[in-house]
Amino acid sequence: MDPLDSGHKFVLGKQGDEWESGLQFLPATDSRRLEKKPGRTKKLWMGLGLLLAAACVALLTGLLVWHFHLRSDVRVRKLYIGAMGISDQPFLPDYEDQDSSQFRRLASLVDRQLKLIYSKNSVLGKAFKGSTVQAFSEASDGGVVAYYQSEFDVHASQQGSLDEAMEQQQQEEQQQAEAQQGRQGRFMLRSKNPLSVSSVVSRAVDPRMTRDSARVKKSFNIHVSQEGVVQSPGFPGSSYPPNVKLQWLLRAKPGNRVRLDFHTLILEEDCQRDFIRIYDSLAPIEDKLLSEQCGYPHESLSFLSSGNVLLLMLMTNEEKNFPGFRANYSQIPLTQQKCGGTLSGDKGYFSSPFFPSNYPPKMTCTWNIEAPKDRFVKVQFNKFFLGNDSDQCSHDRVEVNNERLCGRKPENAVVTSSSNTMTIKFRSDSSHVHQGFTAEYETFVPNNPCPGRFRCSNNLCLNKTLQCDGWNDCGDGSDEDNCKCEASQMKCGNGRCKPRFWECDGLDDCGDNTDEENCVACKPGEFSCRNGRCVPERLHCDGRDDCRDGSDESRCEKSLVLQQCSEFTFRCRNGHCISKLNPECDREPDCEDGSDEDTCECGTRPYRSSRIVGGQASREGEWPWQVSLQVPGMGHVCGASVLSNRWLVTAAHCVQDNGPNKYSQADQWEALLGLLVQSQTNEWTVRRRVRRIIAHPRYDRRSYDNDIALMELDANVTLNQNIWPICLPSTTYEFPAGREAWITGWGAVREGSQRASVLQKAEVRIINSTVCKSLMSDEVTDGMLCAGVLKGGVDACQGDSGGPLSITSPSGRVFLAGVVSWGDGCARRNKPGIYTRTTRYRDWIRENSGI
Ligand code: ARG
Repeated sequence: MDPLDSGHKFVLGKQGDEWESGLQFLPATDSRRLEKKPGRTKKLWMGLGLLLAAACVALLTGLLVWHFHLRSDVRVRKLYIGAMGISDQPFLPDYEDQDSSQFRRLASLVDRQLKLIYSKNSVLGKAFKGSTVQAFSEASDGGVVAYYQSEFDVHASQQGSLDEAMEQQQQEEQQQAEAQQGRQGRFMLRSKNPLSVSSVVSRAVDPRMTRDSARVKKSFNIHVSQEGVVQSPGFPGSSYPPNVKLQWLLRAKPGNRVRLDFHTLILEEDCQRDFIRIYDSLAPIEDKLLSEQCGYPHESLSFLSSGNVLLLMLMTNEEKNFPGFRANYSQIPLTQQKCGGTLSGDKGYFSSPFFPSNYPPKMTCTWNIEAPKDRFVKVQFNKFFLGNDSDQCSHDRVEVNNERLCGRKPENAVVTSSSNTMTIKFRSDSSHVHQGFTAEYETFVPNNPCPGRFRCSNNLCLNKTLQCDGWNDCGDGSDEDNCKCEASQMKCGNGRCKPRFWECDGLDDCGDNTDEENCVACKPGEFSCRNGRCVPERLHCDGRDDCRDGSDESRCEKSLVLQQCSEFTFRCRNGHCISKLNPECDREPDCEDGSDEDTCECGTRPYRSSRIVGGQASREGEWPWQVSLQVPGMGHVCGASVLSNRWLVTAAHCVQDNGPNKYSQADQWEALLGLLVQSQTNEWTVRRRVRRIIAHPRYDRRSYDNDIALMELDANVTLNQNIWPICLPSTTYEFPAGREAWITGWGAVREGSQRASVLQKAEVRIINSTVCKSLMSDEVTDGMLCAGVLKGGVDACQGDSGGPLSITSPSGRVFLAGVVSWGDGCARRNKPGIYTRTTRYRDWIRENSGI
């Protein structure tokens, strides 16, 4: 079948096996009749009724307790999913069709074989109910692999012993199969065994996979020898349907791997509700689960099987349905990309197999680096992600110098040898795959590891210009130690030099906090309130307003519900305020009514990806909230950000009439959403006319104060991986000085030069307002926010106006901290960019757009 069609062919199938048991309601007491009986009779009836009700409740409770705790014969149904290697049956094409007679013939043999296996164990034998074969695939040895589900029925108390018995029986079976194969005595047990079994594995099923609510269950067979596409039903035009369990069985020719690359994946954020799972098998055996994904994942979504099959499953529940996914499939020969080998030469590069795709399961690679006799070897891992740190790295790992590395490592982790050879091993187990690593190696003379460059204490080598520039480039700060400070720098207690502008900005730039000492009037052990008061440190974050402006209760790690709100605290919908700093959309409910985590689907970006001055080109889908505002005939004029499927935010100065250009009129504009390259629209790009412009009524042309405007589109857009809203911070959200932020736009790439064609991005930092005011001769108002790189060279510029200043919160969501507004030239030294401070306009935005 044409997999692209899966969406259209999607029909509501039969209802699931189990129906919800019908609910019976107890007849309500007839209140009208009671009302008619006055006085004593009424009381009597009421008393009797109450008594009866109490008796019923007691009886019901007793029954429940008895049912769940005391009754010993409560039975549960337990499912195991497994795979069986069969060596004496050649694979027939008909095995892919569940309705063929060939399928049924082999399935019944498998069924008999399983019955026989389970009968050897008393626990399994007694509890076994039956098996169903779900699929067959062609094994690499020419035989067949059967995927099945076995059902058991046990006392609730004996579920554990069933698992144990299963484990034990499997081991025995495996040993027997191996022994049999070793002896080549395939026919020895012929008389008893319906099949010659080469392997068996089975595992209990994740309860979510047998969810009762899955009304539609459908399975698609796909051959990946010809490249193609799988997608969720309705993609991309509409969201996936609720309550489905769909699976795609992907098969490659023997001797090949299946490759599955997601182009888009947007599901509901909670994996308990909607999720996809990918298995290195044709049945959902837990041990072969390569990945589970939901939401809008950031990591690599490119998967490879270890053998010639892969299973993709999609499960959804009733609520909240999202766009879904589209993925490309193909096959690649197993022999392609042999990993490991001998590396010689002064420098080189190696990586985990198939990087940046996820490595396949069950891989082992060994690299031997050989340097000339008098040299040592150094390996620097640039990216390193092998899943979660497990105890002793028992799952996937890298081994260097007999040391095991796993989990996530910071960028630029370095390992050095103390001889001229180094061996690096990589191994992945049979489940849970990740992106892996990239590494660079270099040989060096032991007494001079960084010729011509600076050597960090962690053995990293850096260009000398990065030494003593105020930035920690080594990662361990050693490039900023023992520096001679310039006039524009201050000397920290630990000897480091930092720009004077960083003094007293509330951030520990020195590392020993000496740049923040002697800044405030309060004594040690005291907390300095924002109103200038000093209160004992122990009163800070105790839930009470000791400063009398609330400032001692606003930047707390703990979220206490406060008695009183202040201008620094987040206000929940129920009117209560909480003491935690920036609680909104941090994935932890802090308000009693949960309102801090409401409407938090904003600010995430797709994993997928393939001016600004001093920036670099963005990738597709990297800034899905970025909009290009265009005037037909003139092209790109300003930037904007997506707030919802209908509303954009931009700068007020972009929508002011300018001579003959009537920019204040909505019909002059066109908004391009989901755009990466100017004049290159694709299937994801949406063009909309503007229905209404609401510029801030107090926008000041001279000072650029209140430089903000809203634009309503003439028709809603469908959100997708390239068009997604950014989060709006609440009035009390804080973006501290020093925080990294990103600016994006198609503006000029240098002061006075041409516009960019590919969307540019650049990283800047928030700059302390006092410092900024002094640098910009006090033209900065409280409605403005400064960000930039004071060394110069990085900034927004003409044409970037209206675009976003994006900040990723610790929980990973992106917030709109500012709107590009103005600057003194572009990217000049000590002239930061000035942005509209969005927190100031949060209420105005809500009042005017409802967002
Ligand atoms: N006003 C400019 C525009 O209309 C944006 C200037 C931003 N300048 C800067 N140096 N950050 O595009």
